[in-house]
Amino acid sequence: MQQLILDSNTWLLVLTGAGVSAESGVPTFRGMDGLWENHPVEDVASPQGFVKDPLLVWRFYSQRRAAAASVQPNPGHAALAAWERHLGDRFLLATQNVDGLHRRAGSERVVEMHGTLFKTRCSKCQRAPFEDTTVYPAGTVPGCRECGGILRPHIVWFGEYLDPADMKKIESFAYRGSTSGGRFVFLAAGTSGVVYPAAGIVDRVREAGGETWLVNLDPAENSGRFEYNVTGKSGEVLPKLAKLM
Ligand code: OAD
Repeated sequence: MQQLILDSNTWLLVLTGAGVSAESGVPTFRGMDGLWENHPVEDVASPQGFVKDPLLVWRFYSQRRAAAASVQPNPGHAALAAWERHLGDRFLLATQNVDGLHRRAGSERVVEMHGTLFKTRCSKCQRAPFEDTTVYPAGTVPGCRECGGILRPHIVWFGEYLDPADMKKIESFAYRGSTSGGRFVFLAAGTSGVVYPAAGIVDRVREAGGETWLVNLDPAENSGRFEYNVTGKSGEVLPKLAKLM
């Protein structure tokens, strides 16, 4: 296997997707065939779906909360946390996952681009998103104690925009890395390369002269745009991939 050298000259931006949590027992999106209990995922993960049936949406997210809380980070998550301890501020992890497993494995410099299962916000007022691990019983839609509106999961749904502050963090890290005079590396793992803007990061990095790596079980939609492709399970590949120097 090719080795990824992580030395005092290296800046590393990592992007993860559902595949890195697969070995922890969290099903991937494409693995579910886009269906949950026979509902198209768009029906339970979109603003329109929420307006139509908030009970169904909360049942879906309560179930996902309970499922994510009951599994453990795997060696792939642990490897990324170890790389971060080695690189410090020259490391940033952008994840499309909402399951909280990276933080539980010890990652701290994390941008949760698609939100998190463990925060809730009001669909009506400007109250800040708050920590929430409650698994609401089926048939419940929680209400906002400040305005009486309906609460919603703090998740970026289909058709919604990513938080511009999150994109800014990723862009400014990439800018600092690629102008540092050192070596700038981008590594994507466990992501099908279908959903933008995440799937386009590889192109931005190449334009800026960075090195690009993909670790994935199956070919991703954008595999051909990475310089290095490593095929395999992230829980097996990541712990062996890097040489910390
Ligand atoms: P996908 O389900 O689209 O893709 C998961 C990828 O991981 C696939 O390419 C698999 O081959 C790969 N994979 C599966 N098991 C793996 C393993 N053990 N090790 C390495 N790779 C493995 O998930 P994402 O790319 O994360 O967005 O999906 C991106 C976004 O699409 C999601 O965040 C979600 C969805 O629409 C929103 O909810 C906004």
